Amino acid sequence: MSIFQTVSGKAASQYTIANRLQIQHLLNPKALSQDRQIDGGDVVKGLSQTPKSLPPRYFYDDRGSELFEQICELPEYYLTRTETAILQGCAAEIARLTGACEVVELGSGSSTKTRILLDAYSELEYPLCYVPIDVSAGILESSARELLADYPSLAVRALVSTYELALKGLAPSRLPARMICFLGSTLGNLDRQECDRFFWQITDALNLGEYFLLGIDLQKSPHLLEAAYNDRLGVTAAFNLNMLEHLNWRFDGDFDPTLFEHWAFYNKSQCQIEMHLRSMRSQTVQLRALDLTVEFEENETILTEISRKFDLNLVQQELRTHGLVPLQVWTDPNQWFGVLLCQMQKSC
Ligand code: AVJ
Repeated sequence: MSIFQTVSGKAASQYTIANRLQIQHLLNPKALSQDRQIDGGDVVKGLSQTPKSLPPRYFYDDRGSELFEQICELPEYYLTRTETAILQGCAAEIARLTGACEVVELGSGSSTKTRILLDAYSELEYPLCYVPIDVSAGILESSARELLADYPSLAVRALVSTYELALKGLAPSRLPARMICFLGSTLGNLDRQECDRFFWQITDALNLGEYFLLGIDLQKSPHLLEAAYNDRLGVTAAFNLNMLEHLNWRFDGDFDPTLFEHWAFYNKSQCQIEMHLRSMRSQTVQLRALDLTVEFEENETILTEISRKFDLNLVQQELRTHGLVPLQVWTDPNQWFGVLLCQMQKSC
């Protein structure tokens, strides 16, 4: 047993939740106004282009995060449950391969999958240190507190931040190594160029020998893919349309979500699901806080998300060119989803 689990009496009082929780805000109000990406400059840019687009991170206000949790439970949305099953099967091996390490998670969400990893490290009696990174301070703090209550030896150093800022600002790991986790196929939201930049950011944030754990959705029948993004209950449609409500609230806008409809399809040549909002008539929308007026033609669309579907071999090649060498790849019996453990093996 490690010293973390044998503390008692006076020493144990040091291990309160408050003592084991650290929350650092990289998005302080000053940085908020300086960063155009965060203050809506990206909205102005996306809505001023043809074709129009909006960044997927605007899905995730409180309501949007709740709708996403509901999506993960839908029968058609196989991604979350498939990845969870894979992790349950491979977590022990991951822990054995990496040894004691600090677990950094980009977009930590509700942390069900985190628990699977923490359990595996705890089984090997390794010290537990978790660094969740999310733009939503509320979700970050509440899930950190739940984890701390359930894992008495865990230390959490949470970062309220975009991925990019967080990867630049990571404090040195307190454990022998670090593993950065990017699960849930969120990588699919990045186009090729953004993906390339992102992998370099990962490489920069790791020391030689450290780890990157990646979960990605794989190519499969368009039928299955399209069903996953057009569920029968209409939760995905509500999730997509909620982005307009979020923009109204955040930027004093007057989008009428009943005048837009959800449209999702698999783009075969790009191997990606595309989610759009289609304007059902010609209309004018204002976002007063951004001083922006937007004209829509009837049937004009806004691209709200790409969700790329990957080829395991091609992703592995791509990772290798960034010095991230795949050590082990796990998938499910249908080969619907992939989990890759990579090691930084070359200094760049
Ligand atoms: C969280 C980005 C992985 O692309 O499948 C779910 C988001 N969009 N349903 C995905 C999403 C529509 C999801 N990611």
